[in-house]
Amino acid sequence: MHTSADIIRKAAVERVEVDCVRAALERDGYYVAHAAPQRERSDSFILGLAHSIGELYVPIDCDPAAPLIRTAPTRKRHAAPFDRPNAIGWHGDFATYEDRPELSLVYITRPDPRGGDYGAWRLASVEDVVTALGATEDGRAALGFLSSTPLPFSYSDDEDPRQFLVIEPRREGTGLRFYLPSIQRGCIAVYGEIPAQIAAALAQVEHAADEVARVVPTREGSLLVTSNWFALHDRVRQTISRKRAKREALLCFVRRINRAAD
Ligand SMILES: [Fe+2]
Repeated sequence: MHTSADIIRKAAVERVEVDCVRAALERDGYYVAHAAPQRERSDSFILGLAHSIGELYVPIDCDPAAPLIRTAPTRKRHAAPFDRPNAIGWHGDFATYEDRPELSLVYITRPDPRGGDYGAWRLASVEDVVTALGATEDGRAALGFLSSTPLPFSYSDDEDPRQFLVIEPRREGTGLRFYLPSIQRGCIAVYGEIPAQIAAALAQVEHAADEVARVVPTREGSLLVTSNWFALHDRVRQTISRKRAKREALLCFVRRINRAAD
């Protein structure tokens, strides 16, 4: 007998080679592809893919039966970063969470009304970022500082900062915890300013990521599976149009990857 979860999983596995996703995650920290548009089956496609890779993560305010976020770009001031018109900037998701989902999945169901270069993804493997940092004196200083000095992170002004290393050794390699606005907010809360040494080290990380970045236009069917530890991602400026349908992405998250050795 097939359960609905089996059917969903099979549907996803048929369309995307899960082994390819795993191999790309190990090699680059992210997997990017163009999947056939799923139309009305987009929700089950992306959830099925996430489910075939690992354990689903349920964000706050999400239905546990279908833990998806559907983006809806807006100019509202308190919108989530992924819904704002401006670029998000280099980051891994859930940077302020002690125990954060290992993977984020993004599936584009509607492109930006001005075309795929708007709302495009920028992607950088952490391994490449670390290599680029190691190539310069300032970069090496940043590596040393960010590997040894915990920094305060705050997602919002009403949240107490939490101290984390930006560069953290993980079982699988060097991990990065990065989202500039959260660290800047944490610094303001703790120091009343952003200390120059911290600002300089974080700028080195962004500069290194810019150097090694791959830019991927997002079209209907574009799919991204990215590690929140071993890759940085960014979404460039997107359009807020009153006349034309706005870009829409489905987001879901994998708490833990199912590993053969586990
Ligand atoms: Fe993100």
